[in-house]
Amino acid sequence: MKKMLLLSLAAFAIMACKQPAQKAPGASFDEVLATRRSVRAYDASKTISEAEVRELLLATQEAPSWANQEPSKYYVAVGGEKHAALLEMVGGNKDRVANAPVLIVSTYEKGKSGFFRGTATNEIGDGWGAYDNGLSNAYLVLKARAMGFDTLIMGMRDSDAIRECLDIPENETIMAVIALGYRAQEPSRPQRRPLEDVVRFF
Ligand SMILES: Cc1cc2nc3c(=O)[nH]c(=O)nc-3n(C[C@H](O)[C@H](O)[C@H](O)COP(=O)(O)O)c2cc1C
Repeated sequence: MKKMLLLSLAAFAIMACKQPAQKAPGASFDEVLATRRSVRAYDASKTISEAEVRELLLATQEAPSWANQEPSKYYVAVGGEKHAALLEMVGGNKDRVANAPVLIVSTYEKGKSGFFRGTATNEIGDGWGAYDNGLSNAYLVLKARAMGFDTLIMGMRDSDAIRECLDIPENETIMAVIALGYRAQEPSRPQRRPLEDVVRFF
């Protein structure tokens, strides 16, 4: 009887170990939306692993894209030489993200989203690639918050220097650099326009 009990306890322990790690702090979707902010001061004592970044980037692959073209690409520096180099390529953002352990460059492949057999489907052209990249990045920053991380999307960056540094091919348009880390202080919520200013119902 005692042996049986021990065996079932051991089986339970093995099953418990096989459960996926509980990474998210358990926030609801609305809490994720409400607490996601652009963070401009990071906690230098905390790190993020490559495995965690992989989990984060898997979420971006759930984003919709034009005809499922998935034009978005990501280049990731988790500390190290490239991280230090990228910090010099984000202009006035450098001090804001210097303590963020991860920097992610997002790009999209040209001539995919918005194109059919090499021809632009409508007047937006490659703008659809930028659109899809923005959607993908929205998934990234929200998933990051759900995992307890913080982000800063940076449009202020030197794309020529980044292309050379990371050997990014010319058929990709470099969009944002996204800092990933843990907030060092609580960010405030910038005011938003009244809904009436931006929406018309018919
Ligand atoms: C495409 C894009 C580019 C941005 N570039 C920068 C940037 O270079 N530096 C910066 O500090 N914030 C940047 N931001 C953050 C915005 O300033 C921020 O999203 C906005 O003020 C709203 O604040 P919130 O993100 O906390 O809601 C950027 C945001 C987006 C979406």
